[in-house]
Amino acid sequence: MNHPSTTTQLYNYLRQYEWLRRIYRESRTALHITQNRIRTLGSGNLGLKRHRTYLSNISKYNLPLAVSSPEQLLDRCKEHEIRYSTGRHSIYLPPQKALGEFLGEIVRDYPTDAGFKILRNFQSPAKASYIANGDQRRLTKSMMGPVTNQALAANALAALDLGPPCYGIAHLQSGSEEMTAFAVRHVEGDLASPEDCEEFVNKLRPLVSQGLLELVPVRGLKDPDFLPPHCNFNLLRERSTGELMYIDFQQLLANQQPLLKKITENSSEDVHFGGSSSLFRDGKKYLYQSIPGLSSTAKRDTEYRWKIYRSMLEKHGVQVSGKVVLDVCCNTGVMLAHAIGDGAAWGIGWDLPNVVPHSRKVMQVLGAACSTLIPTQLSPEYEISASVPEWLKAKLEGSVLFYLAAIQHVGIIRDLANIPWKTVFFEDHEGITNEEADENLRKIQNAWNCQIVWRGRISDGDCGSRNVAILQR
Ligand SMILES: C[S@@+](CC[C@H](N)C(=O)[O-])C[C@H]1O[C@@H](n2cnc3c(N)ncnc32)[C@H](O)[C@@H]1O
Repeated sequence: MNHPSTTTQLYNYLRQYEWLRRIYRESRTALHITQNRIRTLGSGNLGLKRHRTYLSNISKYNLPLAVSSPEQLLDRCKEHEIRYSTGRHSIYLPPQKALGEFLGEIVRDYPTDAGFKILRNFQSPAKASYIANGDQRRLTKSMMGPVTNQALAANALAALDLGPPCYGIAHLQSGSEEMTAFAVRHVEGDLASPEDCEEFVNKLRPLVSQGLLELVPVRGLKDPDFLPPHCNFNLLRERSTGELMYIDFQQLLANQQPLLKKITENSSEDVHFGGSSSLFRDGKKYLYQSIPGLSSTAKRDTEYRWKIYRSMLEKHGVQVSGKVVLDVCCNTGVMLAHAIGDGAAWGIGWDLPNVVPHSRKVMQVLGAACSTLIPTQLSPEYEISASVPEWLKAKLEGSVLFYLAAIQHVGIIRDLANIPWKTVFFEDHEGITNEEADENLRKIQNAWNCQIVWRGRISDGDCGSRNVAILQR
């Protein structure tokens, strides 16, 4: 009889040990996932589904450089003197002068403060997992889900003022290689101190126990990524704002429903409804725009309204997909979020300074972070074209303008004539007669040099029917 050699015996023993270790690790993860779920359900949050509907489209870009592996990407960075930092699962390229030449068109499609986190797991966004290939943590991968979950987590942190937003996810291609990149707002800052780390974790703890966020690491807040001195290099104090920013968003998962609830509760003085235009029902203030995934009542049913507006636009040959959408008096930004969910390349919204910080949070939690919201007091004389960020100006040709229930608040902003939009969706106010609406539309056509292509009356939510129109140049 043949006896296995001592080496073979040892090898078999170690293999068994590794196998046992994996089982142990996976069962701890299973327990952790169950605890996460119980905590979320226990805090009364039944909406466990993550809505990805309002995330921007994932665009495809051909890289001007040939790369076939993460190591080669690092070599190319060195050759081109591109600054980068590396993590276990990603390679981060901060904004810098030569980045446009190095990464190509993708850089022009995002704000100038965007950095790009490229996953080491070279796969398309549809197939990629954040965790690098070769990592055996199957259950952790399934808990983390698709890369859209990481974008939603980053934006939830942003809405909680704890991290930078993720503007979008991109699909990069170099020959037959496919890659996933997150475009994130770059944080220029200093590594946090142990006290900062404690301050951050003290903010995070209640958000986790209330089920707003879930922690991915099995060790929870005892994981080195949440421990002093600096949360494993992941916590920075941003120089420009002095705020603490956590950049390791893949360690968290966002529960959108309780997050939206918290944000809208906190905004009740401002957004429930735009200063003097407060809305009341049964003596209580309520939202103007309904927010997807939130059960609170609102005056306008944004989902139904968008369905109708989109179909009317499409009937007249207008798609928002790939275009910049402008929304004057955007309120919580939900109409923009719908347009982004339908493929709009970027959203620009304007509303009052006390409203916009809340709108930004709502849009971030929904995932619609490919948007710029401008806090301002609009008026007919307002120079709206000058308020558009420089990098977006070149993308305004053919854009779509929403002028919804805005005219009574801000009149007809004359400078909109100087923005090269192609189509306006106009909605007048409740209680306006057809004759008054005719007069408003006549003034708009004169001021902006456009023609009516369709007129109708539409009602949604709590409202009586209103005059609506599509105008084009
Ligand atoms: C009736 S709501 C319409 C909101 C959105 N356009 C819609 O139809 O769903 C009017 C919005 O105009 C904003 N608003 C009122 N006066 C404004 C001003 N002078 N400048 C900017 N926004 C203003 C309010 O804050 C509010 O969000």
